[in-house]
Amino acid sequence: MSKVKLSDGTSIPIEMHRVSTIHPIRLIPPAARVAALDYAGNCSYNLRSEDVFIDMLTDSGFNAMSDAQAGAFHLADHAYAGGEGYYRMADTVQRMLNKRFFLPVHQGRACEHMLARAFVRQGGVVPTNFHFGTFRTQTGFMGGTVAEMLADKGRVTTGSDPFKGDFDMERLRAFFDSTPRENIPFLRIEAGTNLIGGQPISMDNIQEVSALCRERGVRVVLDMSLVMDNLHFIKARDPKRADMSIADITREMADAADIVYFSGRKLGFARGGGICTNDEADFKLIRGFVSCYEGFPTFGGMSSAELEVMRVGIEETMDENVVSQGPDFIAFMTDEFIRHGVPVVTPAGGLGCHIDANRFCSHLAPEDFRGASLAAAIYIVSGARGMERGASSEQPAPIGIESVAPMELVRLAVPRRVYTLSHIMYVIDRVVWLYEHRELIGGLRWEDESVERHSFIDYLRPTSDWRERLAEVFAASGLE
Ligand SMILES: Cc1ncc(COP(=O)(O)O)c(C=O)c1O
Repeated sequence: MSKVKLSDGTSIPIEMHRVSTIHPIRLIPPAARVAALDYAGNCSYNLRSEDVFIDMLTDSGFNAMSDAQAGAFHLADHAYAGGEGYYRMADTVQRMLNKRFFLPVHQGRACEHMLARAFVRQGGVVPTNFHFGTFRTQTGFMGGTVAEMLADKGRVTTGSDPFKGDFDMERLRAFFDSTPRENIPFLRIEAGTNLIGGQPISMDNIQEVSALCRERGVRVVLDMSLVMDNLHFIKARDPKRADMSIADITREMADAADIVYFSGRKLGFARGGGICTNDEADFKLIRGFVSCYEGFPTFGGMSSAELEVMRVGIEETMDENVVSQGPDFIAFMTDEFIRHGVPVVTPAGGLGCHIDANRFCSHLAPEDFRGASLAAAIYIVSGARGMERGASSEQPAPIGIESVAPMELVRLAVPRRVYTLSHIMYVIDRVVWLYEHRELIGGLRWEDESVERHSFIDYLRPTSDWRERLAEVFAASGLE
């Protein structure tokens, strides 16, 4: 419902809110953007936000609060222990996710840390549809590994399958048959698969995976960080669930899991996270780690105020207009790019519009960090910051360094309620211009191959003066 039809028959996404608090942004000149990239080691993560015009790095914690959330902020009692906000949140979790026990943590990766501490041992293998970087790294820190079970349809950037995040059931059955049960601490489902372009998983697949795990006695852990978009896609693309409410779909999904965790930076429009379960023994085990690594279990590394904000954010997520806004904007971008021949991941997924850097920059060598090079080039011609999703933003430690990733994408995230359609149209225009001048994009290489690389932080050097030349040609074309 967050789309309107214009009188000429075209359809555009429309914001189902109005704005009351604003934050000024500035567009620095193209040459200054090259200097900003020098400072950032050509890695968009390292840019200073004041040098960024439109920040499409991520939607994580970068979203606008609603009036109800701003009001809830002041409900906080700031108690160190036993805060009322904790109990309000636990009630919400019980109602929406049908889980009795709740533990707050400071963000999504802290959930992963707690789960790895609680369950992963040396030699453990966690099957999952697709890894998320911090999850894989933290499993590795505990001596375990992650085994990807993604169906082949998710491994290609183009396609029309509505649920590219599904597990390959045959692969999963073979994994269970060949792996000793004691080596499987749990199975992890990611609802809204981040690293393959925000592609959703179907409810049928979740339920099939869950039934198999229950048959084999394996605990099911569901990462609901990206569930908002996934809920929208289930309602929009699964005819069996077209008439269900978002709240009913959420509950049906949560019922398939023994443990649910989420980044509140995504689900909840706040800065926090949480772990929920009905299993008292698991709850108590994880709680011990939360009180050691995060904070007292009734605030768990969050501020009491953010806990209230997250609760209201999760309640707002049950509104169809709220969950459809991101996917509708992303679909608009994706369709516009397709219309102009720009290679993008299809069908449009969640989180952001994903550009296929391997096809966009096919003139570059695979070792040239095509994704990172394209993200730098987009910044030069637009001041917009996207995120490389490829070899540079993979986290190597402790599993070894990769210089070429299976997919090289640039994600233009659509943070919730932050940007308007004119911002989106501006970015589309600049990326289309860049595609028409793509031969100007050069490569990037590691600054220093001997230095250990860390989560998301990278330093790359250009292989030539291509960035300066791109800025010159862009400025000479009369654009800013
Ligand atoms: C699927 C998924 N799980 C976990 C996380 C980690 O959450 P956070 O950034 O809050 O640590 C993310 C973040 O992008 C994510 O997309």
